[in-house]
Amino acid sequence: MKLFLDTANVDQVAEIASWGVLDGVTTNPSLVAKEGKDFKETVLKMCELVPCVSAQVTATDFEGMKKQADEYSKWHKHVYVKVPMTTEGLKTLKYCREKGIRTNTTLIFSAAQALLAAKAGANIISPFIGRLDDAGQDGMALIAEIMEIWSHNDFDCEVLVASTRHPRHIIDAAMLGAHICTIPYDVFTKLPKHPLTDAGIEKFMKDWESVKKK
Ligand code: G3P
Repeated sequence: MKLFLDTANVDQVAEIASWGVLDGVTTNPSLVAKEGKDFKETVLKMCELVPCVSAQVTATDFEGMKKQADEYSKWHKHVYVKVPMTTEGLKTLKYCREKGIRTNTTLIFSAAQALLAAKAGANIISPFIGRLDDAGQDGMALIAEIMEIWSHNDFDCEVLVASTRHPRHIIDAAMLGAHICTIPYDVFTKLPKHPLTDAGIEKFMKDWESVKKK
């Protein structure tokens, strides 16, 4: 499973990329607004660090999305145009697939939406599990449904588990065979840690001190 960072902060991307585990980045308008930096500049800097960077369109009609998709795709070969799951978005996915522009479909909350996006030509679909959990539904059950559907079809479309909230989401997504998981920085930095690793290092260092004294 590929691991993506869900952020618009270039320093965070550089840090996690330096661990040798980062396959891509997902941005969205809310994350870009939080950082307050120029969108194109941010995307271009990230494209130098990872091979897949999602840049979301902000138009809501087909003509506007098409125009933004054409523009973003020219910025860098690592750009994936992020398109919302609407009927106008489906038209845009079809247009992009025909033009060879790679896409990520965002705001997927049902298996029916996932199926339509894949059929329209999305390269990636992004089901939002945390927001489903927040609404009292079972986000991971949606991933199980989607992976079951994918096992019966030959879609050229990866399933990206988005809106993750804690490390268990990442493990469960991997166990279900999801292709990609996007992870917020605060969750990503929890993944390498375990209290027994810290305690083990402390003991090794303490014991080594006694060896050095001999
Ligand atoms: O990038 C999209 C998605 O991961 C957003 O997550 O935490 O805003 O539900 P969240």
